[in-house]
Amino acid sequence: MTAVGIDAIEIWTGNLKLDLPGTFAPEKGEDPEKYTKGLGLNASSFPDSYEDIVTMGANAAHRLMERKGLEPDDIGRIDVATESSFDNSKPVSTYVAGCLEDVYDSDFHHANKGERKFACIAGTQSLDDAYNWIRAGRNRGRGALVIATDTALYARGDAGEATQGAGAIAMYIDEDPDLIELSAEQGYGSADETDFLKPNQQFPSVDGKRSVQVYLARMREALEDYESVAGDVHPEDITFAPFHTPFPGMVRKAALLAYRHIIRDTSIEDDLAGEIGRQPRPEAFDTDDDYREALREYMDELKETDRYQEWYAEMIDPTLSISREVGNWYTGSVHVARASALKSALEDGRDLTGETLLIGSYGSGAQAEIHTETVQDGWEDEIEALNVDEQLAARYDLTWADYEDVHDAHNHEMDVDVEEFTTPDEEFVFDGWGRMGERQYRYVE
Ligand code: CAA
Repeated sequence: MTAVGIDAIEIWTGNLKLDLPGTFAPEKGEDPEKYTKGLGLNASSFPDSYEDIVTMGANAAHRLMERKGLEPDDIGRIDVATESSFDNSKPVSTYVAGCLEDVYDSDFHHANKGERKFACIAGTQSLDDAYNWIRAGRNRGRGALVIATDTALYARGDAGEATQGAGAIAMYIDEDPDLIELSAEQGYGSADETDFLKPNQQFPSVDGKRSVQVYLARMREALEDYESVAGDVHPEDITFAPFHTPFPGMVRKAALLAYRHIIRDTSIEDDLAGEIGRQPRPEAFDTDDDYREALREYMDELKETDRYQEWYAEMIDPTLSISREVGNWYTGSVHVARASALKSALEDGRDLTGETLLIGSYGSGAQAEIHTETVQDGWEDEIEALNVDEQLAARYDLTWADYEDVHDAHNHEMDVDVEEFTTPDEEFVFDGWGRMGERQYRYVE
C-alpha cells in the first residue's frame, strides 16, 4: 500500500514574545522558577496587532508552498483547525485561500475547504480527514493542506495566562510523503467533560486542575485502545513520543504515567524491581484507595530512577524545546512537539529514517488520540528547511506595559488600537474590516 502522511511542514510564530521569568513573574509576584521549572516555560509567543489566526496560517502555508514548489492546483483540500475562530459560518480556510490567491496566479476554486473543531485535537483530526480522503482515492492526485492556527489567549488574571501562545503550523499531506507516514491504527479515549470550553466567548472558561486530570485519564484510555488494535507498545520500539503540550509540565506528568504503563510486564519492570519493587496490581489490595496510594508511592520512586530519567531525556525532553519558547498553540501544539523532536535529532546528527514516533494528541471537552508514525527518508531536508530558530530570535520582547496593551488589542470586547511593535516583511497582515464585518487582509512585500 502506498504510504500516506506528512510531506512537509512549516511553522509560523507570533511576532511578539512575553518573557515569563523576566517580565511576567515579577508582575505576578511569583518565583520565576514556577514558570521555568514548574510549568516548564521560558516565554510565550504573542500576536502583534496586525496578526491573527488567518495571517499566521496563511504565512505558514505560503512559506510551505513556496519551498515545495506547490501551486493552488496541487491542493485539493484546505482544512483549518482552530479553537480561536471568529465566525460561526464562514470558515477560516476561505480567508486563508483568499490570502494565498492574492500571491498566486491560479486559485483554489476546486478545493474542498473546511474548519475543524474539537479543541486542540482538531489539528490531528484534520490530518485524519486528509489521510482518509487520499486513501479513499478521492484526491485526484492532489494533496491536502492542513493548517493548525491559534491565538491561545486567556483572560487577564486566569491561571492559564502563563501558558498563552500564538502561532500556526501548516502541513502538506500527500502520497509517498517526504517526512512521516501515518499509521492506519489509532486509539481513542473520549468522554463528555466540562474542563475547558468557550461557550460563544473569546477567552476560555477553564477548570485548570481538573483539565490536567482529564488529559491524563483520556490519554491513558487512548493508549489502551491503541494497544488493543496495534499490540503492546514497548519503550524500545519508539524513538520519540510527542504529546499535546499545553505546557511542558503537563507532558512531564503524562510521560510518567505512559512509562509505567508501557514497562508493565516487561524486562524493564523486572530490572527495576530490585530498586523500587514491582508495580502494584489492583487485585493485591482490599480497597481502591489502598491500591491508588501504593501506585502513587511507586510512581514517586519510578520518577527518581536513572532508567526513567534517561528514557525521559531521550524520548520526551527533545519534544519540548520549541514549546518552552512559545507556550500553547492549542491545535498546533502536538505538531510543534513532533517538529521539536525531529529538529533535535537533526541537530544531534542522528539518522531517524524508518524509526517510529508515538503521537499523543488531546483536546479538552475531551478526547485523546494515539497513533504511530514512521519517519521517511526525506526528513532531514524537510526539517533543515525550517527557520523556526530565526523566527523565535526575531520576536519583539514585550515590556509589561506593551503586553497589557497588546492583550487589550486582541480582546474582542475592547475597542482599542495599538501601534504595531514590529514591521511586517513579506507576510500577510490584517488590514481592517469590510462592509459585512468580514476581516480583510493584504500581503506586505
Ligand atoms: N519552583 C518550581 N516549581 C514550582 C514553583 C517554584 N517556585 N512554584 C510552583 N511550582 C510548580 C508546582 O508545583 C506545579 O507543578 P506540579 O503540578 O508538578 O506540582 C507547577 O509549578 C504549576 O504550579 P501551580 O499548579 O501552582 O500553577 P497554577 O495553579 O497557577 O496553574 C494550571 C497551573 C492550573 C495548569 C494553569 O496553568 C492552567 O489553568 N492552564 C490552562 C489549562 C491547561 O493548560 N490545562 C492542561 C490540560 S488541558 C489541555 O491540555 C488543553 C489545552 O491545551 C488547554
